[in-house]
Amino acid sequence: MPLAKYLGHSCVELFEGNQKLIVDPFLTGNEQAAAKHTEVDTGYILVSHGHGDHIGDAIAIAKRTGATIIGTFELTNLCAKKGVDIHPMHIGGAHDFDFGRVKLTIAHHGGGYGDDASIYTGPPVGFLIEIGGKTVYHAGDTGLFYDMKLIGEMNEIDLAFLPIGDNFTMGLDDAVKAVEFLQPKRVVPIHFNTFPVIKASPQAFAEKVKYAQVVILEPGNSIEI
Ligand code: NI
Ligand code: MN
Repeated sequence: MPLAKYLGHSCVELFEGNQKLIVDPFLTGNEQAAAKHTEVDTGYILVSHGHGDHIGDAIAIAKRTGATIIGTFELTNLCAKKGVDIHPMHIGGAHDFDFGRVKLTIAHHGGGYGDDASIYTGPPVGFLIEIGGKTVYHAGDTGLFYDMKLIGEMNEIDLAFLPIGDNFTMGLDDAVKAVEFLQPKRVVPIHFNTFPVIKASPQAFAEKVKYAQVVILEPGNSIEI
């Protein structure tokens, strides 16, 4: 059984046997993070976009562990200049890695490096990840979009990680609609309560969702996928 471990904000680790990957490793600067970047041991780092609360410690982790950074062509090539291994991809494209398959999906959001909007890091993305025979959807930072219905039609999603914090991404009610479109078996709310401006109630989200089981993970908690 593959495992998912939530480290806080949008950061998720996935494990299957001795295969490991991490998504959006924003640990330094996140008071709620369940790990320090120096504790992360991983083979792959998936980065949804260049904002500091997503690329986070990706470069430091890649340098120390030799992990490959997966993301858009633009973002990964910026990372390569810092001396790390990359696998560039783009929206709609999928690739088989040794842990499984990754497909980049659209996300409606911004693309700058950290808080420097003058460095374009390509469009933001979400990830469809196949690992251990299961399918995980990590939406990244995005507003609600109707193509989530298409993603749901074409993929049997076992576990979806969806932002609910509002202001920068979908808020509660739009995330509820996203669940209706995606039809995942289970959904984990992310990207809330890290900062005051994205305060949200995961319990209120859970009460409103009718089409899936909501699993509220505290940073540091794991579930079987
Ligand atoms: Ni962002
Ligand atoms: Mn964000």
